[in-house]
Amino acid sequence: MVPPLLLLLSVWLPGDSCRAADIPEDITAEFSVRLYQRLQARGDQDNIIFSPLSVAVALGMVELGARGDTLEEIRQAVGFSQLVPGVEFSLLQNLTTALSEDDAQYVVRFANSLYLQQGVSFSPEFVHLMKKYFRAQVETVDFNQSAVVAQHINHWVENHTESKIRELLSPDDFSSLTRLTLVNAVYFRGSWKNQFRPENTRTFSFSRDDGSEVQTLMMYQQGDFSYGEFSDGSQEAGGVYQVLEIPYEGEDMSMMIILPRQEVPLATLEPIIKGPLLEEWANNVKRQKVEVYLPKFKVEQRTDLKDVLQELGVKNIFSNNADLSGMTDGKDLYISKAVQKAYLEVTEEGAEGAAGSGMIALTRNLVLYPQVMADHPFFFVIRNRQTGSILFMGRVMTPEVVEPIEDFDSI
Ligand SMILES: *[C@@H]1O[C@H](CO)[C@@H](O)[C@H](O)[C@H]1NC(C)=O
Ligand SMILES: *[C@@H]1O[C@H](CO)[C@@H](O)[C@H](O)[C@H]1NC(C)=O
Ligand SMILES: *[C@@H]1O[C@H](CO)[C@@H](O)[C@H](O)[C@H]1NC(C)=O
Repeated sequence: MVPPLLLLLSVWLPGDSCRAADIPEDITAEFSVRLYQRLQARGDQDNIIFSPLSVAVALGMVELGARGDTLEEIRQAVGFSQLVPGVEFSLLQNLTTALSEDDAQYVVRFANSLYLQQGVSFSPEFVHLMKKYFRAQVETVDFNQSAVVAQHINHWVENHTESKIRELLSPDDFSSLTRLTLVNAVYFRGSWKNQFRPENTRTFSFSRDDGSEVQTLMMYQQGDFSYGEFSDGSQEAGGVYQVLEIPYEGEDMSMMIILPRQEVPLATLEPIIKGPLLEEWANNVKRQKVEVYLPKFKVEQRTDLKDVLQELGVKNIFSNNADLSGMTDGKDLYISKAVQKAYLEVTEEGAEGAAGSGMIALTRNLVLYPQVMADHPFFFVIRNRQTGSILFMGRVMTPEVVEPIEDFDSI
């Protein structure tokens, strides 16, 4: 009998920003993009939201207990093989610590926990390192009581996500064979540096890539942003697409919006997205006045990481070949489940007191500046501008849909 392990991730992120301090450079951009490419291959018209950094952290936690080929697979897949073995733990620690620093302007919390089966002995060294690098909370539970355990872990996740992620697990996720569960939650909350004024939000038509149209709430502002136009290499109209960087308060974190031309489906742009391109965008956008139309949106996704990670070459940890002997003496452990749940809500986040943010009222007949009109699908990245760490990545194929306003002429 092979005792399965559970690897569970959950992520919450509401509307806004974040930042960091003096930290090393994240080297997982390529891994992040590969994850994205696997996810986008799964559903043509679906929104996507996930946290690449959170996946890297979860894999780091597993890697601590992995040995031999199992360990090498993880290092290769995430991009750690360029580092001296073991340095990745310190890197992940530094990246997450820097992001989690207390700051009045935004909140990022990485909450990692490890649940062990009562009566199974784990290596004290492993538990020690989990606490050291990942500040993981370690608890013993009885997975035989699956309903109790599910409730216990769900409470913990809820507690660390301001109740945005509920019911992450069900009792069916556990069995008497479960020996270890890793839970990884990321919580993010902040405000745009320049908030959108709610009174400028309008009902607007959004054209989906399947040709259909939906009504959405379009936010508007005109202001100074980092902006650039890039070419996808195609001949048509120079293949131009737009990149807009919207900073969060504190300016260490920002959301980059990548928008193809109106007539070009996002699927045409997605294949060119590569790790180095993220850097290129970030380094080549220039500060200037821009008119921004951005729909309100809420994206939520529960991702089965097992399939995706296997496709990226992380296979052993999910099979009988798993060597997790750094965790216990037994060589018969493997991970049976890996789930991430992420949630992102983008709003004006200005609610009260958006005063003094330098926004100008709609002047539609007087377009003097580049206009970013996100009324069709776009790709986005929320990243730390200093380290390059990607906290979230995804796409919006359908924003928040509202009922069309009754048109009197049609009655
Ligand atoms: C992490 O930070 C510590 C303390 O600043 C430093 O000694 C260490 O070299 C850093 N690790 C990496 C991989 O940058
Ligand atoms: C909830 O989290 C806070 C810190 O975020 C902690 O102090 C508190 O003990 C937690 N409560 C439970 C029930 O886990
Ligand atoms: C869990 O249940 C199995 C049988 O269903 C039993 O063999 C095992 O000892 C139980 N484990 C614990 C810790 O109670």
